[in-house]
Amino acid sequence: MTGTSKVALAFSGGLDTTVCVPLLEEEYDYDEVVGVTVDVGQPAEEFDEAEETAEALDLDHHVVDAKAEFAEQCLDAVTANATYQGYPLGTALARPVIAEAILDVAEAEDCDGIAHGCTGKGNDQLRFEAVWRESDLEVVAPVRELGLTREWEMEYAEELDLPVEGGNEGDWSIDTNLWSRSVEGADLEDPGYVPPEDIYEWTDAPGEKGSETIQITFEEGYPVAIDGEELPAVNLIEYLNDLAGSYGVGRTDMMEDRMLGLKVRENYEHPAATTLLNAHEALEGLVLTEEERSFKKQVDQQWAEKAYEGLLSAPLVAALDGFVDATQEKVTGTVTIKFEGGQARPVARESEFAVYSESAASFNTESVGDIAQDDATGVAKYHGFQSRLANGVASAEAKDAEAKKDELLADGGSDGDDGEESEEDE
Ligand code: ARG
Repeated sequence: MTGTSKVALAFSGGLDTTVCVPLLEEEYDYDEVVGVTVDVGQPAEEFDEAEETAEALDLDHHVVDAKAEFAEQCLDAVTANATYQGYPLGTALARPVIAEAILDVAEAEDCDGIAHGCTGKGNDQLRFEAVWRESDLEVVAPVRELGLTREWEMEYAEELDLPVEGGNEGDWSIDTNLWSRSVEGADLEDPGYVPPEDIYEWTDAPGEKGSETIQITFEEGYPVAIDGEELPAVNLIEYLNDLAGSYGVGRTDMMEDRMLGLKVRENYEHPAATTLLNAHEALEGLVLTEEERSFKKQVDQQWAEKAYEGLLSAPLVAALDGFVDATQEKVTGTVTIKFEGGQARPVARESEFAVYSESAASFNTESVGDIAQDDATGVAKYHGFQSRLANGVASAEAKDAEAKKDELLADGGSDGDDGEESEEDE
């Protein structure tokens, strides 16, 4: 170690990470703390808050722009139709990106340690540390390790005159990035509590606006253009968040099973994610074979679970990606989405790779190539053959058993019974 010891801290300017700054010096004996805020599409106010708090703390503060990288990650998730229990994984996908960016700063600044302000109850501690523990840096989690509560933190902040206003979020705990806005805590923790309309910021109440259709163009599974206009990933997502959000698209209110086993009530807004996931799946429906689709469901499910865990670096995921990428070669085309009443509904799709023959599916033509309609008769005779056979065997057996029972009851029924009873009775 050099003369002074340094630690890089994931810094948001909120209560948890603010109290971590003096604690890292007092309780962990670091001489210097470097605060790192990573931009994955949070609203501007959050950076202002981080900047102001850092200044007041006299903290060496770095802001890293990882928006483009994060947007790519979100679109990778679209190719795998990734959702966890119905949630498009905004927080989960962002954490490894944030963790990598902080690790880069920590290494560039010659830090000895790396710290986050997560509690011991959530998923984020696991997602951060999965990245950081690949390095040689000391991983530090003051809030978890010192068993801090929000109350204790408030008192400590007051004692040290730290710049906290309890965050800019009011009652709720909020996590926002390009892919989703999540709202939890306070009254919302009660699964029986109906959220007031004002928890939503990205979505207007569904049904208030009429309807509108847009066309989304995909190239090899990735959305590249809207209504014919090519957009970089960040802009495409931002554009759809605004537009789909105005139709109330992408609200999720759910019970989420966290990695440590806790069930937590979560509310999410994710208009762009819902729109892109719906459109992508609709295009896959046109270009993939039935067996590719059903196998891909299993691959997608595994992919989403690893994403939830913050473990997209797992060797399993590299293998899953091999399959996903192979299928996406055909996922090129255009999907028309209709926004209406809180929905982003696919209403048309086209692709040069469509596995579709109009003449085969149409009610208006008699034959498909040299296959006549009547050729299906043999198929229809066989269809369900094994079930009929199995059910026949079962009912024959049931009949046999029934007959055997009748036989037993009839022959010697009363005789035998009386005999035995009298023997035992006497
Ligand atoms: N439970 C979600 C997840 O683990 C998101 C939590 C977001 N945090 C918040 N304070 N709202 O991915």
